[in-house]
Amino acid sequence: APTPPVTLVIFGATGDLTRRLLVPAIINLTRQRLVGEDLNILGIGIEPGDDEFLRGRLDAFLSHLNGDKQTVKDEAWESLRRRISYTSGDFTKDDIFLEIGRRLGPDANAAFYLAVPPSFFGSIVEKLAAHGLTDEKDGTFRRVAIEKPFGTDLASAKALNAQILAQIDESQTYRLDHFLGKETVQNLMTARFANMIIESLWNSRYIDHVQITAAEIVDVGSRGKFYDATGALRDMVPNHLFQLLAMIAMEPPNSFDAEAIRNEKSKVLKALRIYTPDESKTHGVRGAYTAGPLNGVELPAYRDTKDVSPDSRTETYVALKLYADTWRWAGVPFYLRTGKALTARDTEIVITFQPVPFAQFRETEVSRRLPPNRLVIQVQPDEGMSMEISIKSPGLSVDTTPVSLDFRYADKFDIGKTTGYESLLYDLFIGDQTLFQRADGIEAGWAAVQPFLDIWAKDPSTPEPYAPGSMGPACADRLIERDGRQWHELGVLLHHNGK
Ligand code: BG6
Repeated sequence: APTPPVTLVIFGATGDLTRRLLVPAIINLTRQRLVGEDLNILGIGIEPGDDEFLRGRLDAFLSHLNGDKQTVKDEAWESLRRRISYTSGDFTKDDIFLEIGRRLGPDANAAFYLAVPPSFFGSIVEKLAAHGLTDEKDGTFRRVAIEKPFGTDLASAKALNAQILAQIDESQTYRLDHFLGKETVQNLMTARFANMIIESLWNSRYIDHVQITAAEIVDVGSRGKFYDATGALRDMVPNHLFQLLAMIAMEPPNSFDAEAIRNEKSKVLKALRIYTPDESKTHGVRGAYTAGPLNGVELPAYRDTKDVSPDSRTETYVALKLYADTWRWAGVPFYLRTGKALTARDTEIVITFQPVPFAQFRETEVSRRLPPNRLVIQVQPDEGMSMEISIKSPGLSVDTTPVSLDFRYADKFDIGKTTGYESLLYDLFIGDQTLFQRADGIEAGWAAVQPFLDIWAKDPSTPEPYAPGSMGPACADRLIERDGRQWHELGVLLHHNGK
């Protein structure tokens, strides 16, 4: 169903996020007729200019986006283009908010999207509220969408939540985590709760351990300033990886309603074990990439990246071993890892099941080699799932061989190219908060990583070096191998069976 009439007010309209993701997502929604003629965009930026200024900027960007004019610039864009306006001003001054008020009028639905550096989040919400722009009249809505990073540690996330919630209600607050816009992430709940054979094995009795990986080939590139102050842990773990963890580990909600789901997700995030400083030292490791060839290009070491301090101690790779202390997951380790400049782009969840209790195969050698069942859920690229099982090798002797039952989204469905922001924007317009983070969930995530932030802030040593294009630093292998386990090889899933 199409969304209600709404004006999307974008703070940071001349920035990268707006042109690369927000506008293309709205073009896609327009093409699918999920938003219509009553969707308007009001862009706000620092640069002076009129409506044609922003439209022209977007024209220029869209025409070389993938060099793919056909799919990006069409009637949908032409129709949306006419409904884009622009006004410039300083987000810290009142004038711009008065102007927004004049343009919106008192009775329009509005979604304010903060595509700005995080230092502006709190103050923009305060100004919006001070000017009455977040007041909801009967039957109209005013919502605020906030990008990541939401805070830089537990204390700042709490302070930001307090600052925002002093002005607007939680029901008006849409904290984004773009991982939740990914089709396969949303499928995690369906895979679990619509399939008896999966959910009935989903506990410590049958599961040995869980691996959650977000490996990237991209390096830090031009993001040195942001990244050096952030690091892999803050950038990826309390948000993206914990969203995946929550989807995997949550209890079944009583309904698919936003609060029911968010209650369960928060509950499991609050159950993440908070380590002592000593425990943190043995449950988390970090690395930083060195100079070397990556994709045929000579990559400078992380520390030699533009805007990165030459004696930086920031990590570009992190691996953690965590526990969710709940009845269901007691004793099951969750190994998480993420890093830049690695060998493959691969976001995946691997569930390794317990070995069979008794292997009655003739040669004991065979039973010893019997690999455990694994369920591999590939989030990106090449979305799909694969279940690894053991079968009898053909022939007279009793021997087993592992095979995998594979499902690839692309084989079954014609999934067009999306930005991953379509569902998030659509939900923002219809008022469904399921795919947005609630204050308590965000704070629970920060609480679980805070002990690592604390010990690393005090640790004078530098992260362990790893070569670009590798699987990561050796310390990450040691973290899991000392438990007699191994990381799932990066970039191989769904390509076995000769695919
Ligand atoms: C962002 C991080 O939130 O997520 C980036 O700031 C990271 O460092 C990106 O590259 C990964 O997102 P995706 O959708 O490309 O997996």
